[in-house]
Amino acid sequence: MAKKTYDLLFKLLLIGDSGVGKTSILFRFSDDAYTPTFISTIGIDFKIKTIELKGKKIKLQIWDTAGQERFHTITTSYYRGAMGIMLVYDITNAKSFDNIQKWLRNIDEHANEDVEKMIVGNKCDMEDRRIIPKERGEAIAREHGIRFMETSACSNVNVEKAFLDLAKAILDNQTADQERQDSQDRVNIARAEQRNTLASKCCNI
Ligand code: GTP
Ligand code: MG
Repeated sequence: MAKKTYDLLFKLLLIGDSGVGKTSILFRFSDDAYTPTFISTIGIDFKIKTIELKGKKIKLQIWDTAGQERFHTITTSYYRGAMGIMLVYDITNAKSFDNIQKWLRNIDEHANEDVEKMIVGNKCDMEDRRIIPKERGEAIAREHGIRFMETSACSNVNVEKAFLDLAKAILDNQTADQERQDSQDRVNIARAEQRNTLASKCCNI
């Protein structure tokens, strides 16, 4: 059997309005490439990239959804399996920012409760066409207790950092869960041992 080349598998999901740059962000991260032509995603697509965090090889399976409403049914069926979700808007497009509320509702309805979330304001290279100040992005993220970052797939700003931060949040959560489980296991073992000792004492009388 082939040796497993990674320690952990994290499933991530990209959501947000059509044209905000989800596919471009993913393409920048996976292939370090960018194209200015817009080819709207049909349904769903994915890419794989392995990263290293805290000495662990983590395989990221990143699902890229179509932002167009007509794919809503198919795309929302992918929320459930996601461990991390990147909700992307375009800093030059007010509608895509207003729709954050709608996308957050979709997450609430369709994703796991403990999913790690990040709001991403993309196209920050287009300062002259900016409509949404960074502070507004930070504020809405703070309001919902979600991480926030501005990115540019075009100029390669913060793209890798966004994925690494999201993966790190998932890893930290898993580590905390594991530590809780380990300490509960230790308590259970100690109790079982105590019961055994008491039981054997009883029988020896
Ligand atoms: P759907 O697949 O329809 O949901 O759209 P999407 O969110 O995947 O958008 P996509 O990545 O296809 O990008 C849409 C357009 O925006 C393309 O023409 C990209 O080249 C452009 N674009 C994406 N990211 C950036 C960016 O960081 N800066 C600039 N200036 N343009 C960008
Ligand atoms: Mg796309």
